Amino acid sequence: MAATTSMVTSLTFTIPSLGLRLPTRSYPCLKPQRRFVRKAASNVITATYELKAPPYPLNALEPHMSRETLEYHWGKHHRTYVENLNKQVVGTDLEGLSLEDIIIVTYNKGDILPAFNNAAQAWNHDFFWESMKPGGGGKPSGDLLDLIERDFGSFERFIEEFKAAAATQFGSGWAWLAYKANRLDVENAVNPWPSEKDKELVIVKSPNAVNPLVWDYFPLLTIDVWEHAYYLDFQNRRPDYISVFMEKLVSWETVNTRLEKAKARAAEREMEEERRRKEEEEGKPTNEEEDDDLEMYVDNDNDDSEAE
Ligand SMILES: [Fe+2]
Repeated sequence: MAATTSMVTSLTFTIPSLGLRLPTRSYPCLKPQRRFVRKAASNVITATYELKAPPYPLNALEPHMSRETLEYHWGKHHRTYVENLNKQVVGTDLEGLSLEDIIIVTYNKGDILPAFNNAAQAWNHDFFWESMKPGGGGKPSGDLLDLIERDFGSFERFIEEFKAAAATQFGSGWAWLAYKANRLDVENAVNPWPSEKDKELVIVKSPNAVNPLVWDYFPLLTIDVWEHAYYLDFQNRRPDYISVFMEKLVSWETVNTRLEKAKARAAEREMEEERRRKEEEEGKPTNEEEDDDLEMYVDNDNDDSEAE
């Protein structure tokens, strides 16, 4: 572990105004030589982040989740997170970053920065809508079912554990099924369950807007257990809402697709680690050492000549 960590120090992503310096290793979406320039001088403000509609009509989940719930939950709560995020990041160093990047940067080792909650809630809700489908529920198949049975003993046991996590998240928050493939240290996040084990499914719950991206997990499934998610349909009966979600709404096809992507990404990481290890053993400079001058950063100046 230590050797792996020490290999990568030169290629970094920096946000000077936030005092943050992150390795791009863990965040492949952060490309070197990418430069964001504040465009405040142009007085043009664009909505960087858009409210994505659920992948089905608002009444499509009835009778299990009402149109009225979707109208409020997506049409008002989700919309507000997106609108507030746009207001928060416009003209700042965060403008132009992906939602995932903003989440990682602003989680700030648990010392959460102001934009985190809106960015994470915008991402979490997109992920939640896509975790459901009309006529969902039932049982997964293939690799997903095999892994569930391996890591939880049985599908039935998994269901019970997931329901328990969702029911016992105190106050507002989320419950997740995630693929834990992070042997790597994450320098801007705190892994609450550090382990040498990898490539396993885990159930985690998170308060407020926190999601497993900040622990470098691959989220596969989530349920929103904020009261606004179920109060219109179930009042205070959160366990009934959770049961209906698992039995009637979960899109296991989506979860399976996410798992395949997570496994592919984990395999890419392993290959990259192995390549770096070999280069170090052979005394060759790694790509990152060769690219020592490359640095992704956010520019605070208002030099219009650089604003493209
Ligand atoms: Fe919500």
